[in-house]
Amino acid sequence: MSAICIVGGSGYVGLGYATALAELGHEVVALDVAADRVAALNEGHSPIFEPGLEELLRRGLGSGRLRFTTDADDAIPGRAFVFLCVGTPALSNGETDMRQVRSAAITIGQRLRPNQRTIVVNKSTMPIGSADLVTQLLAEHVRDGAEVAVVANPEFLREGAALHDIFHPDRIVLGASDRQAAEAVAALYAPLGAPVLITDRRSAEMVKYAANAFLATKISFINEVAQVCEALGADVLTVAEGIGADPRIGPRFLQAGLGFGGSCFPKDVGALAHMADAAGLHPQLLRAVLDINLDLRRRFVAKAERSLDGLDGRTIAVWGLAFKEDTDDLRESPALDVIGGLLERGAVVRAYDPAAMAKAARLMPAVTMAADPYAAAGGADAILIVTPWKEFAGVDFGRIAGVMRGDLILDGRNLLDPEAVTGAGLRYAGVGRGRTGAVPSAILSGAPVVSRD
Ligand code: UDX
Repeated sequence: MSAICIVGGSGYVGLGYATALAELGHEVVALDVAADRVAALNEGHSPIFEPGLEELLRRGLGSGRLRFTTDADDAIPGRAFVFLCVGTPALSNGETDMRQVRSAAITIGQRLRPNQRTIVVNKSTMPIGSADLVTQLLAEHVRDGAEVAVVANPEFLREGAALHDIFHPDRIVLGASDRQAAEAVAALYAPLGAPVLITDRRSAEMVKYAANAFLATKISFINEVAQVCEALGADVLTVAEGIGADPRIGPRFLQAGLGFGGSCFPKDVGALAHMADAAGLHPQLLRAVLDINLDLRRRFVAKAERSLDGLDGRTIAVWGLAFKEDTDDLRESPALDVIGGLLERGAVVRAYDPAAMAKAARLMPAVTMAADPYAAAGGADAILIVTPWKEFAGVDFGRIAGVMRGDLILDGRNLLDPEAVTGAGLRYAGVGRGRTGAVPSAILSGAPVVSRD
């Protein structure tokens, strides 16, 4: 059992790791500057919507191994490990804003006890070279005799599955200039039984950016293929199934639709491109990945406009606001650009999202928030599906047809069964489904080959 301080303990990554490390038996103090969040967390209330998080939080508090504080003098001195989990947002040019990291490194350095060794773990996603920067800031501020090592240990959590990903990691990546420090951090995660990659700090930092850039590239790739499919009469779901069966390609992250949003992919691909630019390189693939992704949103609005002969005065129901299902997170959500485009063209927008409406109402006062998908669809000329919440696939489309004014469903996530929609007398269009109505065959499940002509 180790004594751990988590700096940035009320944020997404910090809170996830604070609760998980306490669950693994460590003694965790989470430090955060947000006094209201710290107070709520100590009462067992999570400021973040994440399956299982509040339950784990309460268990940690109940065990006495987890607590939250705003007092750095209480949280930092004497801990064997200090995790840096503060925010690293993007500046407008794609560069990473390192102010919180710098300030946290100074706060930590000033409080490390002499005659004690502390390992600082860089958990937030930080540009290549950040472990060197943190090392330098610590060195400038520590008192004589305090010994400190910095280990780069990127996280690979998905929102909505953060705890699952913490407890079942594919790999633990540790970058250190001091192997003992890396092994000490590896020991914290030993109960998870995951493969451990120990490397230099810059390579570990780069693993995080390269992983996110690769996944984002897969998404933009399949979205570009989807456009060609749509133009030439092929079905992207079948194509994804066909290429995904090749283990060199793999089936995941090949869902065409409205592309990626969230706090990671857009920011990290942008930051990697910025770092490449700054190094005098020409990151053309990364730029294309981002361009394709943003184009999807414009194309989707244009498709609605074409299908409805103009958007001025039309009532549009938008199903889904969060950047993906099972989260209330709106950061970089395609819904923001899609709704912006609809409103610009004079449409009246009514939206429904199972989790994100409270946040969305503050950001988009011109949009009416509806109580459920049916209320959003009432009197609408079209329904636009923007987030692939499972709930939408289970909707009664006969009832929907009865309440709409028009008959168009634009499925921006290829979520629905086209036959369930057209069977209810509605028009359906997915993304990249040149053969509208085609459903993927059972060819890969071992069933007899079904002709798809
Ligand atoms: C991602 C990475 O998966 C995670 O490893 C990293 O630590 C943070 O970034 P997250 O942003 O939570 O996690 O979501 P993810 O499930 O990866 O989806 C990202 C976006 O891509 C979502 O907007 C999703 O809708 C979209 N997406 C995903 C697609 O459009 N198609 C796909 O096939 C997969």
